[in-house]
Amino acid sequence: MIDDGHFAFEPVAPDEARFVDHPFRFDAPFHRISGVPAPARRSGAAARAGDVSPHVVGLLVDRLSALENELSGANAVLDLHPEPILVVDAKGEIVRDNPAARRLFGDAPPSGKPRRKLSHVLADKAALQAAERVVRGGAQESDGGAVVDFTFRPAGATMDRHLRARIERLPGYGMSGYGAVYGDSDDACALVAVTDLTEVKRAEQLRADFVANASHELRTPLAILLGFIETLTGAAADDPEAQQRFLPIMQQQAGRMARLVDDLLSLSRIELTEHAVPTERVDIAEIVGPVARALTLRAAERGMTIELEVANDLPRVLGEADELAQLFQNLIDNAIKYARPDTAITVAVGSSPRIAGGIAVRVKDRGEGIAKRHLSRLTERFYRVDRQRSRAVSGTGLGLAIVKHVVNRHQGLLEITSKVGKGSVFSVHLAPAPEPPAEPASLDEARGTEARRLKHVA
Ligand SMILES: Nc1ncnc2c1ncn2[C@@H]1O[C@H](COP(=O)(O)OP(=O)(O)OP(=O)(O)O)[C@@H](O)[C@H]1O
Ligand SMILES: [Mg+2]
Repeated sequence: MIDDGHFAFEPVAPDEARFVDHPFRFDAPFHRISGVPAPARRSGAAARAGDVSPHVVGLLVDRLSALENELSGANAVLDLHPEPILVVDAKGEIVRDNPAARRLFGDAPPSGKPRRKLSHVLADKAALQAAERVVRGGAQESDGGAVVDFTFRPAGATMDRHLRARIERLPGYGMSGYGAVYGDSDDACALVAVTDLTEVKRAEQLRADFVANASHELRTPLAILLGFIETLTGAAADDPEAQQRFLPIMQQQAGRMARLVDDLLSLSRIELTEHAVPTERVDIAEIVGPVARALTLRAAERGMTIELEVANDLPRVLGEADELAQLFQNLIDNAIKYARPDTAITVAVGSSPRIAGGIAVRVKDRGEGIAKRHLSRLTERFYRVDRQRSRAVSGTGLGLAIVKHVVNRHQGLLEITSKVGKGSVFSVHLAPAPEPPAEPASLDEARGTEARRLKHVA
């Protein structure tokens, strides 16, 4: 207990304090103003000038608790803000972050450990330099702050995110003896507010791609259609034989245009949600089976059979059933289109040699195979090994692009192996879904589990 001769300050024990979860609040001790001031013990002595009356102590305590309430309100606003916010001091250390920032950039080190530098979470040079300029009060930045666009790949993610940081100077944030509350130094800090532009950028890119690809691919069937329409309304207007010949071709070209639009739309839909991992637990065999059975008739038209092999006791995977069905449909459809007539296609569902505990679905055909130089480009939009042949079998060149995006969204792996003259194997590897927490059937069972756990710990 410290006694200043007027009233007492009692250090608050850290575990007693209210804001224990805060990363930097307890670097300096808090004090509680307590009890009657010291002059009460000097009974009879005249009160000195400067003595503080109990009334003033009461006012101070009230003011302090009002400030604490205000502070916890402000902290709640920061914590509930859905977008990442960081506060960086003049040394470039992160003195404050909110849960959204921790989700994106990772957790702060535990209290007692050195703080993270902004450069540890953010490798982008322009953003770091802007933060430094702003916090040091560069003439331009001190007025309006800085705005920097950059890309960032969170730990474990497979795709970059497009972020925009607005960096504003926070003058006086590091002020006063409450260094622990407001930061370490008397210098200003910088507020780095991050907005995720990934969806917006992706949508912009998709729009641009869609216009370029679609117009290019639609032009051919459209030109054919226009040519026939011109002929049928002109020279062949009274020629029923020509009409009989041209109309099926026109129907085929119109169908091709419709398929192209459908494929482009499903591709853009999948791309938009690609970074959102599905949460539904699905049984892959229940998805592959119906797709394979539905395609047996089409296979039979080329004298082909589809052999389905499903291993027992396979784990479930986290997946979007409709997207996975489209993925397997595209692979089996390719096997039917590009394999030799009168051969068998094998669709095997088993365990994955690539992902521990995972599942692999292999679609194997006995076709011409694909030369090695094409393999890495097969999943590009509109890439075809043999353009003429693909067109002849009504291919749009989007099937494997859709497959790749669905696999990406499921955080899986697509493997293509092929031997020219022998055939190809397209394998999709998917990780097993994590086991859901087992719910005890009864209270007794729950108690039993707890008792066993305690015994194990002891
Ligand atoms: N099993 C396969 N055997 C041989 N070549 C294949 C096989 N699967 C795909 N290809 C080649 O890869 C190209 C791209 O396939 P993709 O599925 O993306 O497009 P597509 O089949 O031409 O059209 P779509 O699937 O949109 O109707 C095909 O044009 C074909 O040349
Ligand atoms: Mg295809």
